Amino acid sequence: MKRKLLGTFLSVAMAASMLVGCGGGSSAPATTDTGAAEETATEAPAAEETTEEAATEETATEETATEDTAAGGGKVGVAMPTKDLQRWNQDGANMEQQLKDAGYEVDLQYASNDIATQVSQIENMISSGAQVLVIASIDGDSLGTVLEQAKEAGVSVIAYDRLIMNSDAVSYYATFDNYMVGTKQGEYIRDQLDLDNTDGPYNLEIFTGDPGDNNARFFYGGAMDVLKPYIDEGKLVVKSGQVEFDDVATANWATETAQSRMDAIISANYADGTKLDAVLCSNDSTALGATNSLEANYTGDWPIITGQDCDVANVKNMIAGKQSMSIFKDTRDLAAKTVEMVDAIMKGSDAPVNDTETYDNGTGVIPSYLCEPVFADVNNYKELLIDSGYYTEDQLQ
Ligand code: BGC
Repeated sequence: MKRKLLGTFLSVAMAASMLVGCGGGSSAPATTDTGAAEETATEAPAAEETTEEAATEETATEETATEDTAAGGGKVGVAMPTKDLQRWNQDGANMEQQLKDAGYEVDLQYASNDIATQVSQIENMISSGAQVLVIASIDGDSLGTVLEQAKEAGVSVIAYDRLIMNSDAVSYYATFDNYMVGTKQGEYIRDQLDLDNTDGPYNLEIFTGDPGDNNARFFYGGAMDVLKPYIDEGKLVVKSGQVEFDDVATANWATETAQSRMDAIISANYADGTKLDAVLCSNDSTALGATNSLEANYTGDWPIITGQDCDVANVKNMIAGKQSMSIFKDTRDLAAKTVEMVDAIMKGSDAPVNDTETYDNGTGVIPSYLCEPVFADVNNYKELLIDSGYYTEDQLQ
């Protein structure tokens, strides 16, 4: 049931959260080595790190971060899903820096997209005395048991970016307006194809994210609320026939999974020169997979491709004309808002929230702060990403 919360339900739910922002953002640039992150994205496109070596490396790096920290404000555990996607490196680095600046001790861990690893990292955080946990879950449904332990130990939990489902141990949720991300992507396709003023039909294919990530349903729901009416009237045609969430989901948001699905779609539907007009991709890792496949297999006019995150590889693709747009989610702002939440919890006061209606995790609505996602394309990326200090010009060369 909860996996079916789409379409009109989302429209109604999100109507309440149109006016959002993420004030108080830090101007400090991400301190993460985005060069290294970029290497990962380019050399092994979103390869999900399943090797022991990768897991060890992630854990080892973060142990150092813990040791380096010496602060009197209390201890905060920060659990991130993976280093494979550039954005989580930035999220982790920003959280760590800003928490340290606020006087907290930080235990930052990455889990190589492995649920059992994330659970055991959280167990360790609880047993080593963390008072607040900030968790970007790998699978929102898999943390119920470990968060029971947190609750028993009096440890507060903030769901970071992704909602943790079916646990009453979650106090707050800090994220971007996920439905708005999808809406912006859908509206972009609608406007670029001028669907209201032209007859079409136009061919569309759809790629969304991991079924265990609650966000994926909001991205998909936001975009489909815009595009589905045109599909229903036949102006947009999905030749693969893959339209429903379960058919267009991408396990672990993996680039190579999106790429091989696109390979199959092209060979079955577009190999004869049939034009593909648009590819709705919920984020940049899936967009990268779709783009790689199109480059290798497709000979027609280049389609519109959407994305999200402004990962370095994808910004480069936007500059090269291979990806049409992305959504910029300034992780510095999300980190700043989350640190405010941590601070409030530590001091026993109420944390800042701007949405108390949208995100029900199965145990009730979780008070949330939704930051505003921003449209990015080749025309505004310099202002958004370089002038703001998010990336250097060199990183995008
Ligand atoms: C995040 C996106 C990200 C995706 C894959 C989602 O939960 O909101 O920004 O692209 O996960 O990591």
